[in-house]
Amino acid sequence: MPSPEWAAHIQDEVLPQATAGVKLGADLLELGPGPGAATDWLRHRVSRLVAVEQEDEAAARLAARYAGTNVEVVAGDAAALGYPDASFDTVATCTMLHHVPTRALQDQVLAEAFRVLRPGGAFLGSDSLPSDDLHRFHEGDTYNPVEPAAFLTRLQTVGFTAITLRVAYNLIFTARKESAP
Ligand SMILES: C[S@@+](CC[C@H](N)C(=O)[O-])C[C@H]1O[C@@H](n2cnc3c(N)ncnc32)[C@H](O)[C@@H]1O
Repeated sequence: MPSPEWAAHIQDEVLPQATAGVKLGADLLELGPGPGAATDWLRHRVSRLVAVEQEDEAAARLAARYAGTNVEVVAGDAAALGYPDASFDTVATCTMLHHVPTRALQDQVLAEAFRVLRPGGAFLGSDSLPSDDLHRFHEGDTYNPVEPAAFLTRLQTVGFTAITLRVAYNLIFTARKESAP
């Protein structure tokens, strides 16, 4: 379980901003759910939530917690999704990108999010900003935070439009895959 403080942060501050004005649709893909702070909030707003988690143990714990609900937890890599093009109405990811070890792999995650989204769908989420404190917190662990200005162009490069970035003590983003003309 996420700590109550972290869950409150994700659910009361981050997700209401990241989803503002977004129609989530029926099928949502979450990348890197970890202990499920975002999953708990998002799953009540869609028909089906698929959560792809790289760590087998975390995936197994989350799968046990959500057995029999509208959440399907899959052990897998967000940079190599096993779903056809245009499978989801929304793709969400919170506090995950800085755990992806290289910029190239992060860009693959962005490209995969774009590929599996239906035209008209949204990619949204958040991440921590680069900081010395966060770097110390991640000592011995992967720490590869995205730089917000570069993140904007990286999202554009894989095809996203109508990008909103909110940069305060963290980064909150929403981006669209345009509907076919
Ligand atoms: C800091 S946790 C965030 C958990 C949750 N989203 C939140 O905001 O509370 C990051 C999670 O992303 C997962 N993760 C990292 N790289 C991943 C990848 N390539 N594919 C899927 N999950 C990944 C980690 O295993 C970890 O559970």
